[in-house]
Amino acid sequence: MSIEIHNGNSIELDYQNDFFTMIYFDPPFNSNRSYKMSVDSDVGFDDKWEDDDYEEFIDKNITKLHKLLKKEGTLFFHISSSCMFIPEKVLRKHFKFVEPIFWKKCRSKNNVKNKLGSVVDIIFKCNKIAKPKFNLVYQEKDEKYLKNSFNNVDERGKYSLGHIVTEKTKSGYKYEITINNKTFNPESGWRIKKEEVERLISEDRIHIPSKPNGNLYKKIYISENPGKPCTDLWDDIHSIGQGSEERRYPTEKPIKLLERLILISTDEGDTVLDPMCGSGTTGEACRKLNRKCVLNDANLDAINVVKKRLAIGC
Ligand SMILES: C[S@@+](CC[C@H](N)C(=O)[O-])C[C@H]1O[C@@H](n2cnc3c(N)ncnc32)[C@H](O)[C@@H]1O
Repeated sequence: MSIEIHNGNSIELDYQNDFFTMIYFDPPFNSNRSYKMSVDSDVGFDDKWEDDDYEEFIDKNITKLHKLLKKEGTLFFHISSSCMFIPEKVLRKHFKFVEPIFWKKCRSKNNVKNKLGSVVDIIFKCNKIAKPKFNLVYQEKDEKYLKNSFNNVDERGKYSLGHIVTEKTKSGYKYEITINNKTFNPESGWRIKKEEVERLISEDRIHIPSKPNGNLYKKIYISENPGKPCTDLWDDIHSIGQGSEERRYPTEKPIKLLERLILISTDEGDTVLDPMCGSGTTGEACRKLNRKCVLNDANLDAINVVKKRLAIGC
């Protein structure tokens, strides 16, 4: 899959409108800091702004990126939770649908004395339409999840409970089911048709409640469960400093984070843009997942890091 690399100002990227299925935008955060790999290194960038200038910078970029994004596409805007106000204000001006993903990037901060340690970044998921391209992805089944969810057992093994009764605020299929001489006829109805419940009963796939007023459930065995459907709280991906990944650039993001964003919003062969790519994490993730990718950064040092990382001639 192709990877194009540009060294320039993001605002000057020259692509036709409605070109990209996903854009990952990880700009300077307005954090009032200079980022360097080490005190004597030149590799890094400045992040010191007046608020008005920062808002103008973000607004100009989002105006441009909104045009480049396909109608069914997704723009992800990555920002620290302590700097989210200006970006959110700008994003809501341009996009109809803006939803935060909360990324808990580290466990704790032992070096703070006068404020609460900041452990969360926000990734705003921005869409033009209510039903954009979307793939459900799963978080790995961790031990706590397995213990809490699969706490019933029969001769086939451990299982969790899948709802077959409609929730109280909705109205489902209406019929009676008799099992072990007991009749179930839930007020709100059933989520599935009678034949389906009868098939599950014949296969011993129905969990019968021990409580007198309990509901019937479908048994879901561990082997059939693909994992936890991803929520908007991501606490299973560590930042580069706390994980095993090598750091090549001061604000480098973990590859797993980019892989998940790409899987959620694109299919194989789609094209992804990272207009401020830093060390090129997006490029590496796209290559792994067979997506086309355009990378850009204003900083030549960053571009050199990208080329080395992706083994593309300097
Ligand atoms: C937070 S870092 C990106 C880190 C990247 N996601 C990674 O995983 O390595 C922000 C980047 O934006 C770049 N940048 C700042 N202003 C820019 C501009 N106007 N056009 C292009 N790149 C810019 C900086 O050089 C820096 O590399």
